[in-house]
Amino acid sequence: MDFGLQGRKVLVTGGTRGIGRGIVLAAAEAGADVLTCYRTESAAVDSLVAALKETGGDHHVIRADLAEVSEVDRLVGEASDRFGRLDGVVNNAGVISHIPYADLAVEEWHRVLDTNLTAAFRIVQQCLPLFGASGSVVNIGSRGAAAGIPLRAHYTAAKSAMIGLTRSLAKEYGSRGLRINVLAPGVIETEAMEQMPPERAQGLRDMYSGKTALARLGTVPEVAAVALFLLSDLSGYVTGETINVDGGI
Ligand SMILES: NC(=O)c1ccc[n+]([C@@H]2O[C@H](COP(=O)([O-])OP(=O)(O)OC[C@H]3O[C@@H](n4cnc5c(N)ncnc54)[C@H](OP(=O)(O)O)[C@@H]3O)[C@@H](O)[C@H]2O)c1
Repeated sequence: MDFGLQGRKVLVTGGTRGIGRGIVLAAAEAGADVLTCYRTESAAVDSLVAALKETGGDHHVIRADLAEVSEVDRLVGEASDRFGRLDGVVNNAGVISHIPYADLAVEEWHRVLDTNLTAAFRIVQQCLPLFGASGSVVNIGSRGAAAGIPLRAHYTAAKSAMIGLTRSLAKEYGSRGLRINVLAPGVIETEAMEQMPPERAQGLRDMYSGKTALARLGTVPEVAAVALFLLSDLSGYVTGETINVDGGI
């Protein structure tokens, strides 16, 4: 499908693994020029760089730890230097941990909120001057934010706050052509699941498949396709929305 993204300049955070990697590769294949970031050096970084070279286009993979505001600002500076403008931003980088609320340390609360929420706030703010007459921001939330998940109070708090941030910014910046939406995945099969012991991975698949109308987990390309739709003009009259990509959980 042609999303009309040829030559569009797109920043995707956390693009080396999982959903972010899928969005980066799908956007590059759709003709966009993509700048993405990661926190940790790994084989995934090298393989993404190699895959993007194969795809063609003007792509950049940069190390930046988004838990630090100064690093967020440096990342946006890189996007400005390399692209001169932006047409789309996907706030994808996220971290999660499983901790009983009674034991949740304030440092862990801050780590999860800084990466999932504060980075998105700061990125959109710093990117404002880079958007022209139109632009699209896709904030990757979580279906679990609306449902609530035991042991993830910090994570669901951050992802719920993303919805309020999105709705407010949609109203504040809609008149200048900026659209802002949340894409809220359900349970998605990423390579993280392949790296688990097989019995544990199968247990998770069975448990979460049983909760969805489609009786299966989602795939990374299925999430990436919706991200491309939201980045593209095909969704030109969609803003302030939360789009669940959750198989009917
Ligand atoms: N997978 C799911 O089922 C699911 C469900 C609902 C929502 N989500 C949301 O979807 C997004 C992606 O999830 P995922 O499962 O694909 O995650 P993932 O496999 O853990 O990948 C996360 C990506 O973000 C990067 N990242 C993490 N912290 C960073 C930081 N401080 N600075 C820069 N980059 C950072 C990681 O880079 P490094 O490798 O360098 O750490 C990696 O590239 C997250 O926002 C998550 O909350 C996922």
